[in-house]
Amino acid sequence: GALTVGVDIGGTKIAAGAVDAAGRIVARTRRETPARDVGAIAAAVVDAVGELRREHDVAAVGVAAAGFVDASRSVVTFAPNLAWRDEPVRADLERALGLPVVVENDANAAAWGEFAHGTGRSASSAGHEVHDMVLLTIGTGLGGGIVIGDRLLRGASGFAGELGHVRVVPDGHPCGCGNRGCWEQYASGRALVREARAMARTGSPLAAHLLELAGDDPEAIQGPTVTKAALEGDTAAVELLADLGRWIGEGAASVVAALDPALVVVGGGVSEAGDLLLAPARTAFARQLTARGHRPAIPVELASLGNDAGMIGVADLARTV
Ligand code: BGC
Ligand code: NA
Ligand code: ZN
Repeated sequence: GALTVGVDIGGTKIAAGAVDAAGRIVARTRRETPARDVGAIAAAVVDAVGELRREHDVAAVGVAAAGFVDASRSVVTFAPNLAWRDEPVRADLERALGLPVVVENDANAAAWGEFAHGTGRSASSAGHEVHDMVLLTIGTGLGGGIVIGDRLLRGASGFAGELGHVRVVPDGHPCGCGNRGCWEQYASGRALVREARAMARTGSPLAAHLLELAGDDPEAIQGPTVTKAALEGDTAAVELLADLGRWIGEGAASVVAALDPALVVVGGGVSEAGDLLLAPARTAFARQLTARGHRPAIPVELASLGNDAGMIGVADLARTV
């Protein structure tokens, strides 16, 4: 059968893959995300899709975008961490590619990928029936995707599942969305980097290894710096990831209070830290879950498709454009 291409546009990179009907990635490529330049982002997507089309027959393209996508799945109306404002992404790309295009929020796409081809599916086949699922994607921002009754929840305007902008701290850190205290400011790669740099700037001996990895420049610390240090056993980095995990777990418990899913899936680049993030998240989740002890256990699992969940999910959504 024909392949569809899934393109995941993140804060730092654009990942594109030609995907078959079973959710398998047949070929892939990537580009840097051009900063603050909308035209350059579209050009990079066209280039990446063009590369895949030279080798494969592609029927349609799905684009997962880190922002608010309208109900017709065409326009990125707003992106807190990207330059897009009312961007007609679907029309622009359909014109440039001559293929049907569908646009979906990146976290919604990842939720759909995990539901259809990842953790949701394997849980169901192992006997834990999953029809309702929440996915949190921890990258530059914090994204949410919600599947209810086997369907992606889109809401009245297409903007359902913007869990990163739920307020968790009154008058907390300012957010790219214009508010303060959004969950994203405490449970994302940005939050991790902010806390790691703040620690390094104090000159605390605890931060010595982190600083060393960043060439002695606190401002050069990035998310992967912290993950690397933590995997090497560095105490400060392990604690930074544990703090992040606690924010994720406590927030997830609130989301579960509202939606009662059968499964919570955690994905995104930062989830590559694995148990260093997941174990503290599970502990905080279990302690904060309402009616705990009086409800079935809700597993909190890593995205089994890893950082490919969005690409695979949006390629699947593009099959029914
Ligand atoms: C955006 C979401 C996106 C998430 C993850 C948030 O800041 O509002 O639309 O899903 O980041 O990329
Ligand atoms: Na979403
Ligand atoms: Zn916000």
